[in-house]
Amino acid sequence: MQFEISPLPAQRLKDRVAIITGGAHGIGKAYAHRFVAEGAKVVIADIDGEGAEQVAQEIRAAGGQAIGLMVDISKLALCQQMAQTAMEHFGQIDALVNNAALFSRIPMTRARFDAIPEEEWDRMFEVNVKGIWYTCRSVVPFMEARQHGRIVNVSSSTVFQSPGTRIHYISSKAAVIGFTRTLAREIGISNITVNCISPGSTLSEENPSEETKDYRKRRVADRAIQRIQYPDDLAGAAVFLCSQDSAFISGQNLIIDGGQVMI
Ligand SMILES: NC(=O)c1ccc[n+]([C@@H]2O[C@H](COP(=O)([O-])OP(=O)(O)OC[C@H]3O[C@@H](n4cnc5c(N)ncnc54)[C@H](O)[C@@H]3O)[C@@H](O)[C@H]2O)c1
Repeated sequence: MQFEISPLPAQRLKDRVAIITGGAHGIGKAYAHRFVAEGAKVVIADIDGEGAEQVAQEIRAAGGQAIGLMVDISKLALCQQMAQTAMEHFGQIDALVNNAALFSRIPMTRARFDAIPEEEWDRMFEVNVKGIWYTCRSVVPFMEARQHGRIVNVSSSTVFQSPGTRIHYISSKAAVIGFTRTLAREIGISNITVNCISPGSTLSEENPSEETKDYRKRRVADRAIQRIQYPDDLAGAAVFLCSQDSAFISGQNLIIDGGQVMI
């Protein structure tokens, strides 16, 4: 086989359409902006509908194409509506980034395993696990029809090095990896890749308090790259996993934490 050296395309997601859940804030917002910079049209789907529309407006004001939608991913009907609206607006769906989760904007209990409120355990799995099942059920048929697609799920590096708290959150993020592998095998036949990103502790809060900054700094000493992690540190990997360059990569989990967990 001969290798051809070709110049890198300037925009790796040119004319691709991507749905980014949880794109109104934090890391999802960084994905939305970077995807547009790479040439994509984006659907920002968030339980905070106003926040989603605000990010979409910022993108449109800068000349990009985006729509913002209020979607609670734990409701199948809303996920189906999200996919329909994306199709009506942009005519295709190339990528789905399952970034929304109960994490920092919607606070969670940090207590021992036996002190987690049962309703909170259930809601965690309803959003973080069932939610991505619902978004995939809604979007995959459109990808199958075109025999092309990219799905990126979001787990967490805490699955591999647990801090010893938030057992419901970490269990839900471990489930995301099993979900990713199984779905990758089931729909690979349609040329759809399914991968996962596992971020390390990331300063994703919009107006972080000193306490939050100190909390994020605590991981720094354990990393090969010894600095705070920011949302932009994750965006390039999400672009890659939605681009043509990752066409033969599926069922994988990429830990992005500055070289803290090494497996
Ligand atoms: N920041 C970190 O340190 C870190 C580390 C590991 C993994 N992660 C993961 O990365 C992703 C983004 O994290 P973040 O730091 O930006 O979190 P965040 O809490 O700031 O953002 C999550 C987004 O999801 C939205 N959302 C919550 N519930 C929803 C629902 N039911 N339907 C639709 N949208 C919903 C929120 O409104 C918010 O915009 C999450 O999956 C999180 O678990 C983050």
